[in-house]
Amino acid sequence: MKLWGGRFDKETNELVFSFTQSLSFDRRLLPYDLRVTRAHARALGECGVLDPEELQKVLSTLDALEEEAEQGTFPFAGEEDVHTAVERQLVERLGATGAKLRAARSRNDQVAADLRLLLMEESGNLVQLLGRLMEVILERAEEYLGAVMPGFTHLQPAQPVLLSHHLLAYFEMFRRDTERFLQARRSADYCPLGSGALAGVTFPLPRRYMADELGFSRVTANSMDAVADRDFVLDFLHACVVLMSHLSRLGEEIVLWCSPAFGFVVLDEAFATGSSIMPQKMNPDVAELVRAKAGRVLGSYVAVAHVLKALPLTYNRDLQEDKENLFDALDQVKGCLRVTVEMLSTLEFRTDRMREAAGEGFTNATDLADYLVRKGLPFLRAHEVAGRLVRICLERGIGLEELPLEEYRKVEPAVEEDLYEAISLEKCLKARDLEGGTAPSRVEQALREARDWLEKEREKWMGGFLHLAP
Ligand code: ARG
Repeated sequence: MKLWGGRFDKETNELVFSFTQSLSFDRRLLPYDLRVTRAHARALGECGVLDPEELQKVLSTLDALEEEAEQGTFPFAGEEDVHTAVERQLVERLGATGAKLRAARSRNDQVAADLRLLLMEESGNLVQLLGRLMEVILERAEEYLGAVMPGFTHLQPAQPVLLSHHLLAYFEMFRRDTERFLQARRSADYCPLGSGALAGVTFPLPRRYMADELGFSRVTANSMDAVADRDFVLDFLHACVVLMSHLSRLGEEIVLWCSPAFGFVVLDEAFATGSSIMPQKMNPDVAELVRAKAGRVLGSYVAVAHVLKALPLTYNRDLQEDKENLFDALDQVKGCLRVTVEMLSTLEFRTDRMREAAGEGFTNATDLADYLVRKGLPFLRAHEVAGRLVRICLERGIGLEELPLEEYRKVEPAVEEDLYEAISLEKCLKARDLEGGTAPSRVEQALREARDWLEKEREKWMGGFLHLAP
C-alpha cells in the first residue's frame, strides 16, 4: 500500500523505493505513531469526521495494534515508512473507516510528533540512567573518603587532592548533563499536530486536547516551523555530545589509571578483556570504547546540523536523515552509560599507590611558596625561592620535606621549623579549606550536598516523567 500514487501512471522504480524508504529504521517510532494516531482519531471524532461508532472501532483496533507492537508481532510488510504501515493495518482491518484517518494530517506533522514524543521519553530515560551513574560516583566517593591522590595538570603531578574530590568533579559534570537533558526534553515538549503538511488543516482539530492526550505541555505556534525544524533533535544530540565528552574523559582516566605505570585502579575481571597473543594481558577495552564512541556521537550531531542548515522552508525529505543519526547516538549513549555504571561500581582503587604518588613530584611546592608568602615574601619572590629549592632537591634526589632546615635557610632565612608541617601532605589538603576546595571537611560537606540534591532530584524525576521505559 502507498499513501500516494493517484497522479502517477508508472510504478516507482525499485531503486528509488529502497533509496527513499525509511521503514527499516523508523519502525522504531511505531509505539509513538500509534499514540499519535489515537489522539488524531479522537480529534477527528471531536470535529465529526469520525462518528462515535467509527471512533470506537478505530480505538479498539489501535488497542490491538499496540498490543502487537509490544509483543513484536506487528505485521510490517515492507511499506515505505512506519506511518504507511500503521495506515495499512487500519485500512485492512477497518476498510473505509480506517481510510478516514488520513484526513487532517500529513506525515510531516505526524513524524514531528512521533520524534518529539520519543525524545521526551528518552531524555527522561537518560536522566534516570545518569541518576544511577551519579549514585555510583557518590557511593565510591563515600567509600574512599580520606584517600589521597595526586591531582594533575598537563598530566604532570600538580597538587594533592582527595580521591573523593576527583570523583565529585565528575558528579558535577553529570549533574549538568541531567540539566541539559531536561532542557532537551523541554525543547521537544510541543505538539505539532494540526500543522498538516505545512499550512495547518481545514478541519477544526482541537489542538490543545490532542497535546494533553499525548502528554505534551504546549502546542507549536506556527505550522511551518512545526514541520520544518528539528532543532529539538539538535538540542538532544548536543546534550549527548557533552555527556559523551564527560564519559570519555572518565574512560580515558580509567585507561591511564589501570596501566601499571599509574597503578591507581584495578579493573574487575568481568569488565576487562584479554589478548589473543599475550597471555598476561588484562585490557581496559570497555573504557577505550566509551572514549571512542564520543567521536561517533559527535559525528551524529554534525550530520544532523548539516541536514538542517540552509534547508528552505518547510518540509524537505532531507529531514528523514535525522533519524538514523539520532537513534544511533541514543543507543550509543545508553550503552555507554549502562556499562560505565557497572565498570565504576566494580573498580578497585589502589589507595596505597595513590597516596605514594601524591607525595611524589613536588606536589607540595605551591604550599612551600604559600608558606613563604605568610612569612612576608611577595608571591613572585616566593615562587622563585621555592623553584630554587625544588631544583636543589631534584639534584639530591629527595623531596622538599626531606631537605634540612639549614639548607632552606641558606636560600631563604625566613624559613623556620614550622615549614615541615606546612608542606606535609595532610596540611596541603587541609589548607584548601574554602568552598569548592579539597580540604577533607569541605569534601565531606560537598558529598552531603550532592547526596541531598540527588535524592530530591530523583523524587522529582520519578513524579515528572510519563511513560518511562527501562
Ligand atoms: N519518512 C519521512 C521522514 O522521516 C516522513 C514522511 C514524510 N514524507 C514526505 N514525503 N512528506 O521525514
